[in-house]
Amino acid sequence: MIEHAPWFEEARLGMFVHWGLYAPAARHEWVMNREEMTVEEYSRFFRHFEPDLYDAREWARAAREAGMKYAVLTAKHHDGFCLWDSALTDYKAPNTPAGRDLLREYVNAMRDEGLRVGFYYSLLDWHHPDFTVDGVHPQRNASNVEELNAGRDMARYREYLHGQVRELLTSYGQIDYLFFDFSYADPNPHSFWGGKGRKEWDSEALLAMVRELQPSIVVNDRLEIPGDLVTPEQYQPAGPMLVDGKPVTWEACQTLNGSWGYDRDNTNFKPVDLLIRMLVDGVSKGGNLLLNVGPTGRGNLDPRATDSLAGIGKWMRLHSRSIYGAGPSDLVPPPDARYTQRGNRLYVHLFAWPFEFVHLPGLGGKVEYAQLLNDGSELMLKESNPDQEATTIVPGGQPAGTLTIKLPVQRPDVAVPVLELFLKDQA
Ligand code: GLC
Repeated sequence: MIEHAPWFEEARLGMFVHWGLYAPAARHEWVMNREEMTVEEYSRFFRHFEPDLYDAREWARAAREAGMKYAVLTAKHHDGFCLWDSALTDYKAPNTPAGRDLLREYVNAMRDEGLRVGFYYSLLDWHHPDFTVDGVHPQRNASNVEELNAGRDMARYREYLHGQVRELLTSYGQIDYLFFDFSYADPNPHSFWGGKGRKEWDSEALLAMVRELQPSIVVNDRLEIPGDLVTPEQYQPAGPMLVDGKPVTWEACQTLNGSWGYDRDNTNFKPVDLLIRMLVDGVSKGGNLLLNVGPTGRGNLDPRATDSLAGIGKWMRLHSRSIYGAGPSDLVPPPDARYTQRGNRLYVHLFAWPFEFVHLPGLGGKVEYAQLLNDGSELMLKESNPDQEATTIVPGGQPAGTLTIKLPVQRPDVAVPVLELFLKDQA
C-alpha cells in the first residue's frame, strides 16, 4: 500500500490518455522519432492541431462508466508539445488552432466525474533547443549532430523541466498522480548514445519538489530513483512484483492495440474479454491496470476504444466487487482461474468454464456460502470422499480438503464469470 495514498490500490483500474500532436499524424506517438522528423517538419501538426470534437466530459464519462477510478493524461510527451498554457514555452495548445489550455478542461471534467487526476510528463523533449541530440533523438542520424549539439545545454533544459513540473503542480489544484517517462541509462559504450537519467533530470531534487508541492501525490518509478510504485509496460507480470524480495505496489500500463497515440491503421485491438482477464490477472497479483486510449486529432475517442471501454464497463457493473479494494489471496486457485480476495470474500474468476463442477483445493470446510456474482444466485457446495474410486457413473473422490462447487451447465453470459465465496471466520 502507498501509505500517503491508500486510494491507489483500492482503485485498481485507471485510464491512460495519450493525446498530442501525434494524434493527427495517426501513426504512433513516436512518429517524429520513427520518421526522423525535424522540429520544422513536425510543426505541420502544430499548425493543424484542431481538436473541434474534444469534450473532456465525454472522456471522463466513458472512463467512469468503464469503472475507472483515475486518469492520467500526457501533459507533454516526448515531442515536447504541451497541452497546457505553460509560461515557459510557446510550443503549447493555446498557440495551435485549439487556442486554449486543454489540460484544464481535462482536470475539471475528471474531477466532476469523481475520478482522481493524473498527469504524464515526458522527461525527454525532442523540441527543446537545449535537449541534446542522443541515440534516441529523432535527429540521431543527422549528418551534423555535433553542430546541432554545439550550443545545447542540459542544465538549461533541466531548469525548464523542473519549472514545468512546478507549473503543473501549482496551477490545477490537487493532482493525485504524476507519471514521469522515462530514464534511459546508457547501455552502450559508444558515448553518442548518451543515455539520460537521474543525473540529467536531477531526479532527487525533482522528486523532493514534487513531494513538497503535492504531499499526497503518487509518483511512478521512471526517474531512475525509486518512486511509490513500479510500472511494467505492455506485459503482464508472472506474479506479484518484487523489489528486494518484497511485494511492491505496481501498475501495468497497457494499450488497446499496441500503440499509445492514435494509430488509424493499427487494428490489433485486444478483445474485451482479454482486457478483463488482464485486469483480473493483475489484481490477483496485487497490481493495477492503467489502460490507454489514444483520442483522434479531432479530440474524440476512437469508436473502437469507446466499444472496448463500454465492454469493460458492462462487466464491471456486475463484478467490480472482485476488483476494487481486492488483492491477492494466499490460497492457490485451480487451473484456468484467478483468485482475488477482499476480507473474507474470495473471488474465483473462471477463465475457462468447466462442465458441472469446479474443484478448489484447500477450501474444504472453509466456505460458508457461495454465489455467482453476476446474478447473486446460490451455488451448491460439496466435499467428496477422497477414497471414492471412479466407476462408470460415479466420479472419483477429490483429495482431502478439496471443496467442490456445482456450476450450471450454461456459462453465464459475461466476459469472465466470477464466483463469490464467503470464507468462514478462521477464529
Ligand atoms: C514508453 C513510450 C511512450 C509511452 C509510455 C507509456 O516509455 O516511450 O511512448 O508514453 O511508454 O508508459
